[in-house]
Amino acid sequence: MKLPSLNLYRHFLDGIPVYLARHYWWAYLWSGGVWLFDHQPIINAILFGQYRKLMRATMARLQTAPDGNILQLTCVYGELTPKLIDVVSPTPLHIADAALVQLNLAKSKAPEESALLAARMNAEHLAYRDDSFSTVVLFFLLHELPPEARMKVLTECMRVIPVGGTLLVTEYAPLPTRHLLYRFVPIRWLTTTLEPFLGSFWKDDLPSQLNEYGQTYTKGVLTVSDERIFSDFYRVTEFKVVPGGS
Ligand SMILES: C[S@@+](CC[C@H](N)C(=O)[O-])C[C@H]1O[C@@H](n2cnc3c(N)ncnc32)[C@H](O)[C@@H]1O
Repeated sequence: MKLPSLNLYRHFLDGIPVYLARHYWWAYLWSGGVWLFDHQPIINAILFGQYRKLMRATMARLQTAPDGNILQLTCVYGELTPKLIDVVSPTPLHIADAALVQLNLAKSKAPEESALLAARMNAEHLAYRDDSFSTVVLFFLLHELPPEARMKVLTECMRVIPVGGTLLVTEYAPLPTRHLLYRFVPIRWLTTTLEPFLGSFWKDDLPSQLNEYGQTYTKGVLTVSDERIFSDFYRVTEFKVVPGGS
């Protein structure tokens, strides 16, 4: 007897990357999840109480970022987008995401329509020109991507940021083997079950990957700063794009 398939996530596909619909429909695509997760206490709990610290550290790095267009690559729950809009004003903030429901939520947080240039796009294949953004902000996107998508997104970042530009990554730090939350198996199990690609992201060497993927565009990166938060569980890392090998 063939059991009915539980591929309910297919309902959310509609131009959405398959991994996103399959693993994260409940968090980013279903309206009930979008409502729930956009509450500050919830998003803060997911980040083990570190949301504000992470946001403050991210915003601090932007103070020294080069002038020009800023892209927030994919939407984020909470206050990050309105804060970014505030910092870049009067220049509008660019934001791209594959999910319309997320873009609409981001737009609802803008003080005026012209302050946010929102585009529906797959971050793996951006429809922006080469060298379009002096800064790209990735806030907890990379660990949610399967390795191949992660490679494509980082390659696109190297394409759209010119030499002299900045890539700002706020994320989980590399494998936190000594951290209490990692050593406490039930928490590690829960985190890696809800975040199925985090295990591989923990082992990634971001600077090496960016240097490798940037080769096509004769660009590389230098790590300008690498702040660790919550005893090396999270990081806010600023990369400067520099001329690199071909
Ligand atoms: C930035 S990530 C994680 C944000 C973090 N958990 C938070 O809200 O604080 C979540 C966003 O990435 C988007 N996303 C994931 N993969 C994407 C892709 N390949 N292209 C465009 N958007 C993507 C989702 O639609 C969602 O809006």
